[in-house]
Amino acid sequence: MNLFILVPLWVFQLGASGVYTDRVSVFVMEGDSVSLNTDVKANQQEKIKWFFNNTRIAQISEYLNKTCTDVQCNEGTERFRDRLKLDHQTGSLTITNITNTHSGEYKLQIIGSNTISETIFSMTVHETDKTKTKSVKEGQSFTFYPGVVKKTNDLMTWNFNGILIAEITGDPNKTCADEQCKERFRDRLKLDHQTGSLTIMNTRNTDSGEYKLEINNSRYSIIKSFGVSVTAAASAGAALSEIRASMFLSLIGLCL
Ligand SMILES: *[C@@H]1O[C@H](CO)[C@@H](O)[C@H](O)[C@H]1NC(C)=O
Ligand SMILES: *[C@@H]1O[C@H](CO)[C@@H](O)[C@H](O)[C@H]1NC(C)=O
Ligand SMILES: *[C@@H]1O[C@H](CO)[C@@H](O)[C@H](O)[C@H]1NC(C)=O
Ligand SMILES: *[C@@H]1O[C@H](CO)[C@@H](O)[C@H](O)[C@H]1NC(C)=O
Ligand SMILES: *[C@@H]1O[C@H](CO)[C@@H](O)[C@H](O)[C@H]1NC(C)=O
Repeated sequence: MNLFILVPLWVFQLGASGVYTDRVSVFVMEGDSVSLNTDVKANQQEKIKWFFNNTRIAQISEYLNKTCTDVQCNEGTERFRDRLKLDHQTGSLTITNITNTHSGEYKLQIIGSNTISETIFSMTVHETDKTKTKSVKEGQSFTFYPGVVKKTNDLMTWNFNGILIAEITGDPNKTCADEQCKERFRDRLKLDHQTGSLTIMNTRNTDSGEYKLEINNSRYSIIKSFGVSVTAAASAGAALSEIRASMFLSLIGLCL
């Protein structure tokens, strides 16, 4: 009698202990770029597979000829086109310029000689109607909102045209520590350490360009781009629309 009960239990436990599954939630906005990390050191002899909603989208195997991404892995199931990049050393997967069709579960399987470990990255893509480049009048302030809640272990860095302008870590926080940054933004930057939002005060036309926010932690990194164009100061009407624009942005900030 006992044997009949013990056999199925034993099978169940063996199956359950072979796979270790971990879950990570990732919140991004349309247009962001996200890298999902594996924690695998370069050149470890492990097989790596990535699935999106249970369709295989990338793989690294000991044979280079079996390494694939997107359509190479599954004929006729191209979803990402040139948006998908696989780091062949670490197996990390990068999705650039995300759209809302990329919401879903990204499953990472790392297959060693005796173990399989699984991580499920549950990705939510929020829609955004932010136009590519915002206009600001010279002399006014402008604030960028990350649109995500900063978690304790996140490292946030703000860059402008490749210059590091602010870094929010635990402690100490660095704002404009760099010489190039000081020359450009001396005393005109304000950082909200709680939300990660960045304000540029008394804008000049040399502030025009692309601002990038990087959010890094051990599991993933997200890159967000914000374009700004600073134009010559003008009429009262223009100032009013600037106020409307900043109220609109505050609303977005509140909603997120
Ligand atoms: C891939 O390469 C391995 C070794 O180089 C070889 O044995 C295998 O047949 C190849 N597979 C395919 C599908 O070409
Ligand atoms: C991002 O994707 C959208 C379409 O979803 C496209 O219009 C836009 O040009 C892309 N941007 C970049 C930088 O590739
Ligand atoms: C992926 O799965 C999620 C639910 O987990 C679903 O909302 C989404 O539409 C799916 N996407 C595709 C392309 O199948
Ligand atoms: C660094 O940021 C934290 C919040 O993330 C804040 O509490 C702390 O005061 C900041 N430290 C400095 C030196 O500004
Ligand atoms: C954040 O992660 C990206 C991708 O993994 C990496 O290229 C970048 O150097 C990291 N940034 C920082 C400040 O650690």
